[in-house]
Amino acid sequence: MIYAAVLAGGIGSRMGADKPKQFLEFSGKPVIVHTVERFMECDEIDRVIVVTPAEWCDYTRNLLVQYFGGPSSGPGKEMPDCAGKDSGESARITVAAGGPTRNETLMNAISVIEADGNLDDETVIVTHDAVRPFVTERMIRENIAAARETGACETAFPATDTIIETEDGKHVATVPDRSRLWMVQTPQTFRAKKLRDLYLRLTEEEKEVLTDAARIYVMKGEPVEIVKGESWNIKITFPQDIEIAEAILRRTR
Ligand code: CTP
Repeated sequence: MIYAAVLAGGIGSRMGADKPKQFLEFSGKPVIVHTVERFMECDEIDRVIVVTPAEWCDYTRNLLVQYFGGPSSGPGKEMPDCAGKDSGESARITVAAGGPTRNETLMNAISVIEADGNLDDETVIVTHDAVRPFVTERMIRENIAAARETGACETAFPATDTIIETEDGKHVATVPDRSRLWMVQTPQTFRAKKLRDLYLRLTEEEKEVLTDAARIYVMKGEPVEIVKGESWNIKITFPQDIEIAEAILRRTR
């Protein structure tokens, strides 16, 4: 089984809007709908798990029903924190409640896979930021192939700016060689059971530091393959990114 986990558990504090940034609209549709569409269009994806703040579960369901239809009668319909409610979205989509950190949101997505009875060595999870609506079919397919081959992969793009390292935010400590630096994007894709096993073995201190799932593999000496991203596979973070997203959509579609 191939699952997509669209991670929408954040609140978008840097955006400063009246709702989490994944629900803001550009080019006539909410960011999260643009993103979920990319996964729904890919026939390699069996199911899409959308993980959203607990208090936004109903809102997210209603939005997904509006764009993708429903209701679902499939497994994974009653999730922790969203329990007892009809999932109300397309049979290929499940909504679940996120956690306080991105990794905990990701672990909640894995709990959905477990509840489906599919958490085995073969199952692959394609994890993706809900606020990166320009993921392509090529990236998704290459992520799945790389995770099958290597066990884990992440999408990245060669750094275009020189990157400095600083200890205090005031002085330059080091200037790493740009030719060796790549910027991390998503998707990041893993064999789901292995990811959960590695995460459960982390200490609380390690969990604090390892905010990125692929970093867990690197820290544990496990290989992570790189899939080439695109310069325009941006993460919507600040208010001006909404206008940039509109411009990217005009150029790429
Ligand atoms: N995310 C998540 N669960 C969390 C925190 C973040 O699923 N507990 C998701 C966000 O919804 C987003 C992605 O991780 O799709 C990337 O995170 P980021 O851009 O930092 O989003 P926010 O945490 O929402 O933004 P901010 O840091 O400005 O509050």
